[in-house]
Amino acid sequence: MKTTFPINEHATAQLGREVYDNEFVPKDYFTEQSPSDLFERSAPTEIDLGCGDGSFLIQLAQQYPERNFIGVERLMGRVKKVCKKAYRAELTNVKVLRLETLYTIGWLMPKNSFSRIHLICPDPWPKEKHHKNRLMQNPFFEAVHALLQDDGEFLFRTDHEEYYDWSCEHMANCPKFTTKPWNEDDFYYPKSDFQLQWEAEGKSLQNLRCLKA
Ligand SMILES: C[S@@+](CC[C@H](N)C(=O)[O-])C[C@H]1O[C@@H](n2cnc3c(N)ncnc32)[C@H](O)[C@@H]1O
Repeated sequence: MKTTFPINEHATAQLGREVYDNEFVPKDYFTEQSPSDLFERSAPTEIDLGCGDGSFLIQLAQQYPERNFIGVERLMGRVKKVCKKAYRAELTNVKVLRLETLYTIGWLMPKNSFSRIHLICPDPWPKEKHHKNRLMQNPFFEAVHALLQDDGEFLFRTDHEEYYDWSCEHMANCPKFTTKPWNEDDFYYPKSDFQLQWEAEGKSLQNLRCLKA
């Protein structure tokens, strides 16, 4: 039997596609949102940039019902998939935004409002001529810094060794963050399906934990 999920009628008409109620659709894509635009309740809020199929995001939201979570993903099919997963898991603390990461954090999300920002396995842009497209450099760091609360953290995880080293070098030159060791048992941090697949092939992922300076 086909399951139906709550639809946001207004956004469905506005965007000309089916929009679930737990998809976050800004009233105005050109105005910085306020925290109350994102969630009705005031609670520590985390954002997962490039949330993919949502396997990481959903596990985190299940573990921490007292926190709010926003997933950002540019692919519509994945956005719908994550919205459906959140409904099936009966999660009311998850919203998904269909938009590009840099635009989202640079222009749309409220400043000083997030307790943690996650970037898990972003595109490593392995060719040197494409390194300019990598997120882990200054414009991204500045935007992440502006969104985090004073005691906020930025957590980065990648499967790509060279991108990890490159990112660490760029982060070391950024005075806006200090780095902190991150041991596996420091806190609950779920594995995405992508990570599990990667580990099944015998590969490991590397972590970088950055505190707002
Ligand atoms: C390799 S997948 C990783 C997904 C997820 N973080 C995980 O670990 O399972 C990268 C995801 O980021 C999304 N993505 C890539 N660049 C993006 C961008 N600039 N803005 C928003 N999403 C992006 C892709 O569509 C894809 O779903």
